[in-house]
Amino acid sequence: MRITKLVGTALAVAVASAIALTGCGGESKQTVRVSHTQIESHPDHIGLLAFEKAVESKLGDKYDVQIFPNGTLGANEKVLELIKQGSVQFLVVSTANIESFDKLYSLFSIPYLFTSEPAFEKFISDPKVMEQLSVNSKANGFTPVAAFTAGTRNFYSKTPIRSVADLSGKKFRVQAGPTNVAMMTAFGAAATPMSFGEVYSALQQSVIDGAENNELALTDQKHGEVTKFYTYDMHQMCPDLLVGSEKFLEGLPAEDRQVFLDAAQEAQKAEFAAWHKRIEEAKKQAADMGVEFIQVDVNEFRNKVLPLHQQLLSETPELKPLYDAATAANQG
Ligand code: GCU
Repeated sequence: MRITKLVGTALAVAVASAIALTGCGGESKQTVRVSHTQIESHPDHIGLLAFEKAVESKLGDKYDVQIFPNGTLGANEKVLELIKQGSVQFLVVSTANIESFDKLYSLFSIPYLFTSEPAFEKFISDPKVMEQLSVNSKANGFTPVAAFTAGTRNFYSKTPIRSVADLSGKKFRVQAGPTNVAMMTAFGAAATPMSFGEVYSALQQSVIDGAENNELALTDQKHGEVTKFYTYDMHQMCPDLLVGSEKFLEGLPAEDRQVFLDAAQEAQKAEFAAWHKRIEEAKKQAADMGVEFIQVDVNEFRNKVLPLHQQLLSETPELKPLYDAATAANQG
């Protein structure tokens, strides 16, 4: 499975590279590959279609933007390497997946950082925040150009979670990243980091008791087929970032780079709109799959992990300015 996937990835990139810089009648266009792990009805994909349209409406004679959904170019960890090399130009990736490259992204893994989705959306739409997140881009080899909302992450499991005590001793899949492990330990549960694409079979085979994500994981990834209890504990809001390869962006003429950056803003607007519509549909769809949605005392969950805020800030003091800005966004 793993080998097939790697070979598939190598092939996809080789084929894509072979068709890059080719075109009809001697014209040459540069292929711009955009990778993500979601299905084509997902808001991330809809945002990327707006990105493609915005770039090609201005520079369609020079660039052919190609979107690769469903992780066909590989899991995010692998594609990040290709982004750094410049053979893939853009990737949509959750901030949790890149905190091992740059601690600044761990900000969003701090549980209960935001008090509402509007505060979160306001924060991730702020150009100053994106600038602060970009300070290490040269060293990282990638830079965030837009932030997409991914709603609120909640626990879902094979048995109902109605209080913190129900998490005790259970194994939950989390996204890779040390902050998630710290969070699960604080909740009294065990964290099992793994790639998004591996979660369905891990749930099916009971390698894990549950996972945590927004509601689209139940429908789009079909996790609702194998887990029937979804608990609104609201522990995290992590954006999906559209990141660009530094190598690619740095190599562009300034006017072209601006077109890509403007297109990223169009993508964000389209993604936000698609998100709000899709999430309501997904809740109905998941209920039809037999998923029970459970409301809990969110404060009980919050209080359990709140001491992590000071702990994480003292371990990573460079987070403080962004943390303060997030707190200010909560004030409205
Ligand atoms: C969400 C998010 C993805 C992320 C996934 C995960 O679906 O949008 O970017 O990869 O969660 O939990 O891995």
